[in-house]
Amino acid sequence: MTALSVPPFAVIPGAQVQGVLRGREKELVELVEATYRLHGAGDSVNPPSYFLRFPDRPTARIIALPASVGGDVHVDGLKWISSFPENVAAGIPRASAVLILNDPATGYPFACLESSVISATRTAASAAAAADRLTRSRGRPSRVGFVGTGLIARYVHAFLTGTGWSFDEIAVHDLSPAGAEGFRGYLAQAGTGAAITVHESAEAVVRGSDLIVFATVAASPHVHDRGWFAHSPVVLHVSLRDLAPEILLDAFDVVDDVEHCLKADTSPHLAEQLTGNRDFVAGTLADVLSGGLEVPADRTVVFSPFGLGVLDLAVGKFVYDEVARVGDLHVVEDFFSELSRYG
Ligand SMILES: NC(=O)c1ccc[n+]([C@@H]2O[C@H](COP(=O)([O-])OP(=O)(O)OC[C@H]3O[C@@H](n4cnc5c(N)ncnc54)[C@H](O)[C@@H]3O)[C@@H](O)[C@H]2O)c1
Repeated sequence: MTALSVPPFAVIPGAQVQGVLRGREKELVELVEATYRLHGAGDSVNPPSYFLRFPDRPTARIIALPASVGGDVHVDGLKWISSFPENVAAGIPRASAVLILNDPATGYPFACLESSVISATRTAASAAAAADRLTRSRGRPSRVGFVGTGLIARYVHAFLTGTGWSFDEIAVHDLSPAGAEGFRGYLAQAGTGAAITVHESAEAVVRGSDLIVFATVAASPHVHDRGWFAHSPVVLHVSLRDLAPEILLDAFDVVDDVEHCLKADTSPHLAEQLTGNRDFVAGTLADVLSGGLEVPADRTVVFSPFGLGVLDLAVGKFVYDEVARVGDLHVVEDFFSELSRYG
């Protein structure tokens, strides 16, 4: 008989997660790039996310992202992440999440981690990786714009600066003036040397920036004018549903995973519906990382990342390993109590 045993079950609260991740931006971008490579090489299982929606709460959803990743990470698991946009008016963050890690040998869950921070971290690390790789042919932009200035925008900015970016100008727009001002306050406190301008329109941000981050909660396209992109910027379309399909059809489109991204009424999904094919997708970020896809310097480039469960697993396992290494795991004794087959 093989020597299998049930692993202890640990709970890792948000404070521990943040303690591990703080200041590790470069390492985390490398981890996320390595995970994209594993995924691109087929060493992962990442089925479609499941969207749980509620007839009585149409703006809310909870998404299940099951996944398995090989390589050095070697773990299975599930991210379970809620989005309740109405929370924001009550002063509570929109998104909340847990991540379950499962032991690939026995299937037993061995950790439950607070995961809103892990999710924001992997999203921002992916955005920073894309910003770097997609601008290499044109040189680093010094004018960045943020449309939508919630948690994700803050994390993306922190990951850009944490991986060596600096900006001359930061343009900001949010439908909520208080949201834009809050972000300006964050930028000032983060010690940016850039000139910060809050704009009343997304147009001014897009026209005045060479790197643009969309991190809104728009459910359908609100940016339609292709003329705004005449200067061929690089766009990190993190919120996935801001851009009219015509803008994507004009651009050089990079996604994280074609099957995932062309779903759930994302802008790439709308572009597929409009054209009846997927020809507008140039390739994946893994293709860019492997050198198999060259990114033009003279066209608008749009990166649309659906957000892959394998990234959550990689960052979650990184946190778990670090907390375990320093001996700080909060193990829940006897979590699995029915372990003898015949009692
Ligand atoms: N692709 C991924 O992997 C991934 C991962 C995590 C989050 N996200 C997405 O990123 C987005 C932002 O997440 P968050 O946690 O920062 O949300 P949040 O609720 O904290 O902030 C969103 C902000 O966008 C603003 N906004 C809404 N519609 C707008 C519009 N049309 N124009 C300008 N501003 C607008 C809101 O006022 C708010 O301040 C969400 O859509 C989320 O689903 C994507």
